[in-house]
Amino acid sequence: MVSNATREILKEFNEAAQVFRELSLDKKTIKVITHNDADGIAAGAVIHKALFREGLPVHTRSLKQLESNSVRDIAKENPEIIIFSDLGSGKLEEIKKHLPEVTKVFVLDHHQPQKAGCNGLIHVNPHNHGIDGAREVSGSGMAYLFARALNQNNKDLAGLALVGAIGDIQDSSGKLIGINREILKDAMDVGMIRADQDLRLYGRQTRPLYKALEYTTEPFIPGLSGSENACINFLDNLGIPIKENNELIMLADLDNDKRKRLTNALIMSMIENKVPSKFAENIVGEVYTLLNEERRTPLRDTKEFATLLNGCGRNEQYSIGMAIVLGERSKLYFQSLNLLKDHKSYIAKSYAWIKENREKIKDDEVLYYFHAKEDINDNVIGTVASMVLNSRVLNPIKPIIAFSLTTEGDVKISSRGTKELIDMGLNLGKAMQFASEKVGGEGGGHNIAAGAKIGEGNEEGFLKYAKIEIRRQLSV
Ligand code: C5P
Ligand code: C5P
Ligand code: ZN
Repeated sequence: MVSNATREILKEFNEAAQVFRELSLDKKTIKVITHNDADGIAAGAVIHKALFREGLPVHTRSLKQLESNSVRDIAKENPEIIIFSDLGSGKLEEIKKHLPEVTKVFVLDHHQPQKAGCNGLIHVNPHNHGIDGAREVSGSGMAYLFARALNQNNKDLAGLALVGAIGDIQDSSGKLIGINREILKDAMDVGMIRADQDLRLYGRQTRPLYKALEYTTEPFIPGLSGSENACINFLDNLGIPIKENNELIMLADLDNDKRKRLTNALIMSMIENKVPSKFAENIVGEVYTLLNEERRTPLRDTKEFATLLNGCGRNEQYSIGMAIVLGERSKLYFQSLNLLKDHKSYIAKSYAWIKENREKIKDDEVLYYFHAKEDINDNVIGTVASMVLNSRVLNPIKPIIAFSLTTEGDVKISSRGTKELIDMGLNLGKAMQFASEKVGGEGGGHNIAAGAKIGEGNEEGFLKYAKIEIRRQLSV
């Protein structure tokens, strides 16, 4: 059943597509500005492909973040038609103020919008319809719905849109929900994707099963996480070999019987080790396989595909990621595999830094915070903050705020919360905006994951205001 809110937003997409069609009749060049993470790359590629199919000249580029300065720079290029994707909703005022009046602007985003009205630009955002942009539709989902409104033949892009949603962890409840489910239905209709109930271990297609178990920290599996030998023995006791026909076994290779045996044994073992059953059961959920991609490649599993795109984006090789989404499977694909390897080892190193510097995570009233200075790159500080919070080594559960220094000498801030905290009223996007503006910076995002940039030396002031706002939100 499609909800009223979904119906309303789809109507808005149809109207936006109609306006766009009329404007693009004389084949003006269309500029697409998108975010540089997995969701943004997938979103940019979906729009790029859809416009290319219409025979329109399109120029797509990605940004780390849309800041006031970047809006000013874009304005200098005097674009005729511009589409902001997976960013823009937090900067409507600046967009209106700086872009020339003749520029036709489309903002297709899922971040919490600024309050400002938006006369003169087309702004489609789930929050305007009471739809949760942090969980029910991603930037690439918004791009896909626009592409589908332009032309029904673009339904074959639905699977790629879901790679973006998974990149933004929109499956955190155990499966895709809301509009993402409608998009999943489209992807299934065209035979692009399969959804299965399975263990949600990272690396279903490419990591040997015993390694996937060893590396799982969300949830933490007492006795197994971090211990290769224990994982090998655990599997051996269940009659699951490490290798078959001389090939290492991956999770995706298991037959149903072995899969069930392993799932039950893992949940039992966690519960015996005092992991609350609701966390233990989180290890099972829906996983998504892209059926047109080769087995045992990171492109076959949506989670691994998203990590590959994050690897490209975070290494500032956005165009490689975009080429992969658009179907390139030769030279650039091999380069992307190297970026992925690099990215994974950088994240592992950063996580090890956290373990070695556990005392740097301060428990400060309503939140935790740590400052990684130049030890963790500002491109991955958000991912590391998510890992720290989701591994649940911190107790009680509070939001986490992570600082790191950028190469330009500013401070990048990433904050992450949990579903429980959101239900209690936490809104990190609002807290990041409030606290950063108080110290002359900029910030925003989602209720559960948000970020900011401030000048060095303003960290204490920022924390003071973040605490005031978070205390207000949680009424404590
Ligand atoms: O800019 P964008 O919306 O694409 O990024 C969303 C960010 O929020 C991602 O970095 C994603 O990892 C993070 N997120 C999270 N936990 C959630 C939902 C999103 O860390 N439950
Ligand atoms: O950078 P990070 O992954 O921590 O960002 C979390 C979320 O906050 C992302 O959706 C990002 O787009 C958003 N964000 C923002 N404004 C900033 C920094 C981050 O809207 N200045
Ligand atoms: Zn996004």
